[in-house]
Amino acid sequence: MKTITLGTEKLAVSRLGLGCMGMSAFYTGAGQDEAGSIRTIHRAIDLGVTLFDTAEIYGPHTNEELVGRALAGHRDEVVVATKFGMRPDPDDPQRRVLDGSPENVRRSVEGSLRRLNTDRIDLYYQHRMDPGTPIEETVGALAELVKEGKILHYGLSEAAAATIRRANAVHPVTAIQSEYSLWTRDPEAEVLPTVRELGIGFVPYSPLGRGFLTGSIRSIDQLSDDDFRRFNPRFEGDNLEANIRIVEQVDEVARQVGATPGQVALAWLLAKGDDIAPIPGTTKVANLEQNVAADALELSPEQIEQLDDVATPVGDRYPDMSSVNR
Ligand code: ATR
Repeated sequence: MKTITLGTEKLAVSRLGLGCMGMSAFYTGAGQDEAGSIRTIHRAIDLGVTLFDTAEIYGPHTNEELVGRALAGHRDEVVVATKFGMRPDPDDPQRRVLDGSPENVRRSVEGSLRRLNTDRIDLYYQHRMDPGTPIEETVGALAELVKEGKILHYGLSEAAAATIRRANAVHPVTAIQSEYSLWTRDPEAEVLPTVRELGIGFVPYSPLGRGFLTGSIRSIDQLSDDDFRRFNPRFEGDNLEANIRIVEQVDEVARQVGATPGQVALAWLLAKGDDIAPIPGTTKVANLEQNVAADALELSPEQIEQLDDVATPVGDRYPDMSSVNR
C-alpha cells in the first residue's frame, strides 16, 4: 500500500485508511459482530493499512473502546485518529450538542486516551465546528495538548475554508476530514483549493457514498429501522431510485477496468492527488480486501473524466445540513 503524508508536519499514513464507525454505530448490524470487526482491523494491519478512524460520539464511546482493544499490541504500527466536540443532547438523544470549548477539549482527550488505551492520539479532529466558540480558542487548547504530547496532530471535520484559515493561523492543521466522493463533490469548490494552498492533508469520509456507490444498496428495505441512512434524503424513496443512475454510470467504468464500482469510486478519489487519504468504512474482511485492492487500480484520464461527469445526486447528504461546512 502506498504511503502519503498529511500536512506540513508530514504525518505518514497509508493512502487508504479504515473507517471504524459502522462497527459500533449508525449502520445496520452495528455493534453486533465485535469479533468480525476486530478481525477486519487486524486484516487491515496485515494489508498495510495504517490509518484508523474513530470518534468519541460513535457508540458513544464503544467504538473507541473497540478500536483500542483491536490495536493493543499494534499501537506503534498505526496512526490513531479520533474526534471530539459532539455529544448526544441529554434532553433528546437524537440531537447533538456541539462543544469546542477549551474545557471540553481537555475533558474529552482524557476519555479518548483511556478508551483507546494509549498515551497519545496521532490525529485529533474537532468533529463539527461549534458556532458558540471561536475556532482560535479551540485550536489554542489543541496546541496545548500537542505541547503536552497527548495529541501529535490535529484536524477539523466539515470546516469551511475561512475557518480552516483561521485555525491554521493559530497552529498548523494536519488534515481536514470531510465527506467527499463521486456523489459529494462539495469540497472541490473551496475547501480543497484552500487545503492545497496551505499544505494541509485531506481525508475523505464516506468515500463509498455510505455504501451506495458499491451498488449493494438498491432499496431502503435492506436497512434496519435504526440505520442512519433511512433518514438521509439521498436514500429516501424516489431520490434513491434516481440516484441508482449514478451507480450505473460508475459501473460502466468498473466494467472497462475489470473492477467493482466501489473500487472505481476509491480509485477516482486516489487519482485526485497525493494529499488525499480516503477512509472507506467496513465491518467485513472480504469488503476490506476489495477496498484495499483499489490502491493498485489505475484509471485512464478519459475514465476519470467520465467519472467527473456522473449525474448529480438527488437529495441532501444530511437530514439537517446546518452543522456542516461551517
Ligand atoms: P462511512 O465513511 O460512513 O463508513 P463509506 O465508507 O462510504 O461510509 O461506506 C461504508 C458502507 O459501505 C458500510 O455500510 C459498509 O458495509 P459493510 O460493513 O457491510 O462492509 C459498506 N461497504 C464497504 N465496503 C464495501 C464493499 N467492498 N462492498 C459492499 N459494501 C461495502
